[in-house]
Amino acid sequence: MLTSGSQPERIEAGTGKMPRHVAIIMDGNGRWAKKRMLPRAMGHKRGVETVRKIVRAAGELGLEALSLYAFSSENWKRPEDEINDLMGLMREFIKSDLDEFAANDVRLKIIGNYKALSPDIVDMLEDSMSRTSQNTRTTLAVALNYGGQDELVRAARSAAAQGDITAESIEANLDTAGLPPLDLLIRTSGEQRLSNFMLWQAAYAEFWFTDTLWPDFSKDELAQALSEFSTRERRYGGR
Ligand code: FPP
Repeated sequence: MLTSGSQPERIEAGTGKMPRHVAIIMDGNGRWAKKRMLPRAMGHKRGVETVRKIVRAAGELGLEALSLYAFSSENWKRPEDEINDLMGLMREFIKSDLDEFAANDVRLKIIGNYKALSPDIVDMLEDSMSRTSQNTRTTLAVALNYGGQDELVRAARSAAAQGDITAESIEANLDTAGLPPLDLLIRTSGEQRLSNFMLWQAAYAEFWFTDTLWPDFSKDELAQALSEFSTRERRYGGR
């Protein structure tokens, strides 16, 4: 019996099946910089270059959706300088890459409580989302001020305001509503935890971990993760 409206179709082992939606916890920028005796900001800067490469790779590899954990609702605990660096990089990235998204049929979506960010960033993000809203090849979902528990509380509140709370009504109110079900969750840098990312969406996702620090992550390694995904047998609780 299905309990959720979004139950993905069954994927048989070794069929070469591609994931539709991949999410990445981009971790290790700080350690990448530290190993080189560089300031942490340099690690984040190199991290943005990797974001750019991986967004291109996602389109080339045929992903329908790529979700990236860029700033969590817990990242506010970091020193103010680092928060400012990350927000500055976000502004620059959206400004410099929006034309490329438009040219490559990439739709930008922001997930998380982004409306709490500074008004200039909110305006820029909303402009960018509306400018790319008709694009259909790949959706890039950038998680900003995102926390999975916060997303669930917001979704449950909206669902309750509309009627019954059910798995379907919660799912329809998640920030990721409309995206394909999450198939594969990748975390770089050797850490193996969810850190409040995609708590609901990860219910039946496959996990893939690598020791590679995010600035060194590459299209080849993404392709390796997809290839391993295609050999996994997913049973969704069945047998
Ligand atoms: C983890 O590294 C990374 C982050 C907290 C932020 C990820 C942000 C980027 C890659 C840049 C901005 C993103 C976009 C989409 C423009 P860490 O600092 O926790 O590394 P550490 O664990 O080695 O210290």
